[in-house]
Amino acid sequence: MKEFDADELAGYNGENQKPVYIAHDGKVYDVSQSKRWRNGLHMKRHRAGADLTTDIQAAPHTPDVLERYPQVGTLKKEAADREIPPPLAWLLARIPMLRRHPHPMTVHFPIVFMFFTPVFTLLYLLTGLKSFETTAYHCLGAGILFCAVAITTGLFTWWLNYMAKMLKPVKIKIPLSLAMLTTAIVLFIWRTMVPDVLATLAGANIVYLLLVLSLGIMVMVIGWNGAAMTFPVEKE
Ligand code: HEM
Ligand code: HEM
Repeated sequence: MKEFDADELAGYNGENQKPVYIAHDGKVYDVSQSKRWRNGLHMKRHRAGADLTTDIQAAPHTPDVLERYPQVGTLKKEAADREIPPPLAWLLARIPMLRRHPHPMTVHFPIVFMFFTPVFTLLYLLTGLKSFETTAYHCLGAGILFCAVAITTGLFTWWLNYMAKMLKPVKIKIPLSLAMLTTAIVLFIWRTMVPDVLATLAGANIVYLLLVLSLGIMVMVIGWNGAAMTFPVEKE
């Protein structure tokens, strides 16, 4: 029986009429004949050409469904469990949710805080109520904190589950997340040193406002590119 490594398996992803292979528990199956795996995409989220052993734990069915399709090979051991340091492998085996969940669980916080920093800033400019501006300042601080957390968990899930491959969304997410974090830190220091930076809208204060607005745009682009990985848009 043929032995596949991860790169080879990735070639059987169902795109452009290629066969649709999926790996589970060291075995590689050919699901090309399944309607539910047409074009290599299952339930609009699972992509073929990969080891889906962990993913199937969240499925509404057991791995028995795989027995409906022929096994065409095995997955090379080191491809399945690549150099994960033993203490981490031990932890992941004991608490399997640490494998996939930390990033999706933590991303909501920077999304909210980075999005509401411009929202409360605009509310302040519209109403003149100082408390809106104070809230924007607090959102900015919390945004910085949780952006750092999301970047850490994002890099972790990318390394662990995507073999640190330079996929298109990742190419956008890494530099943009760092740009967003830097912008937020600059704004936070600025606002701390000049508390009434938005009292008059002229000169450098306009730059401050534009940078605040850019946070909302950056976080939407980052979130969109993240979701594009978890919930791939089906190509017609
Ligand atoms: C949240 C994730 C998933 C959902 C919601 C889901 C949902 C479904 C549903 C509704 C079916 C049809 C039920 C049936 O035919 O008995 C199905 C079939 C199947 N699923 Fe999944 N699934 C998920 C993940 C996975 C994963 C990760 C794998 C691969 C390791 C997988 C492999 C299969 C196979 C091989 C079939 C049989 C298809 C056929 O008979 O043509 N599923 N899935
Ligand atoms: C503030 C920064 C970030 C935000 C707001 C963010 C947001 C998101 C969102 C909304 C998702 C979809 C989550 C879901 O499954 O529901 C996602 C997924 C993902 N993100 Fe991020 N992300 C950030 C930074 C990063 C960074 C720096 C990386 C590093 C490569 C990264 C890698 C990933 C990966 C690999 C996924 C796919 C889902 C997974 O395996 O967990 N993210 N992100």
